[in-house]
Amino acid sequence: MKIAIVGATGEVGRMMISCLEELNLQPDLLDLYASAKSQGTMQYYQDRPLEVMELNKESLKQAYDYVFFSAGGGVARAFAPIAAKHSALVIDNSSAFRNDAEIPLVVPQINSDLLQGYQGIVANPNCSTIQMVLPLAVLDQAFGLRKVVVSTYQAVSGSGHSGIETLEKQRRGGCVKGSYPEIIDLNVIPQIGVFLDSGYSTEEEKMLFETRKILRNDAIQVSATTVRVPVNYGHSNAVYAEFAREVDLQLAATLLKQAPAIQFHENSYITPLAIGNSNDAHVCRLRYGVDTYSVAFWNVGHNVRIGAAANAVNILVAHAKANGKL
Ligand SMILES: NC(=O)c1ccc[n+]([C@@H]2O[C@H](COP(=O)([O-])OP(=O)(O)OC[C@H]3O[C@@H](n4cnc5c(N)ncnc54)[C@H](OP(=O)(O)O)[C@@H]3O)[C@@H](O)[C@H]2O)c1
Repeated sequence: MKIAIVGATGEVGRMMISCLEELNLQPDLLDLYASAKSQGTMQYYQDRPLEVMELNKESLKQAYDYVFFSAGGGVARAFAPIAAKHSALVIDNSSAFRNDAEIPLVVPQINSDLLQGYQGIVANPNCSTIQMVLPLAVLDQAFGLRKVVVSTYQAVSGSGHSGIETLEKQRRGGCVKGSYPEIIDLNVIPQIGVFLDSGYSTEEEKMLFETRKILRNDAIQVSATTVRVPVNYGHSNAVYAEFAREVDLQLAATLLKQAPAIQFHENSYITPLAIGNSNDAHVCRLRYGVDTYSVAFWNVGHNVRIGAAANAVNILVAHAKANGKL
């Protein structure tokens, strides 16, 4: 199998390498691309040394089986269509293609059927959305999801490596705002992305549109408040959800316990620090909401793993299995 990673030196790109290693996948070729700044730097795949190459228009005019993009929307828009012409599948982590009707937006545990026979660009959803839709998809199937109200508590690594550097510098006494509109250390900032005419931010709109697209139901209502917090890794969501049918809380708990890629904590709660290197969406504090047609729960996921790299690698695996490559 021939694989390329664009953005291989970033938070998500490096984690993609780790996730592929953890699967013990043995690619015949693994090409790593980044900006001119990183050209010639070395990374390792297990014990294989790999030199990072500068991305240019010629780089992706060769046939890879899978090309991962984790270098932002601009790079994806400029280079992903070139890669898609020459390679079987392009998996993009940015928001560049997520709203395109003809581009699948995939969380394999929910809608891997979209990968059967598919070639071209696949979009990897937004980090806080992936960890939330995994449990919501389970509850939707059982009770018919109608409405979601969610507040997020999002780690600084969600802004890329510069987010971590910003927090670390402020921790050491610096007062440069860096990646954020306000000081993030010892603070919380209720803005992720830019504000739209609706009053919601772009990150909040992503949680609406992407939830509807992944669950294939445009009638689902989502009101999100997305908040940056001084945590390095791990997003948390406080989720309230309403359903068409009355919820049997015990059945909900059983279904969540049995679902793939979900860890359900029945009698305890979980924090971003406690999830470690888990690739699962964690759910705890499940309880009724305002009545028996609604629930509330606390939801934690590693934003760079399940929120980005692990889901992207899961897409590769699901596509490869569905199309006879694994
Ligand atoms: N971090 C998360 O939790 C998360 C979650 C979901 C989705 N995403 C998305 O994933 C993407 C990457 O995020 P990240 O957190 O990994 O960011 P990051 O840490 O800032 O890394 C960005 C990567 O893009 C590369 N890059 C930048 N400009 C480039 C260019 N012109 N040509 C080639 N490569 C270029 C960088 O290379 P250099 O090192 O050479 O500059 C680096 O490898 C973004 O679209 C982001 O929205 C991130």
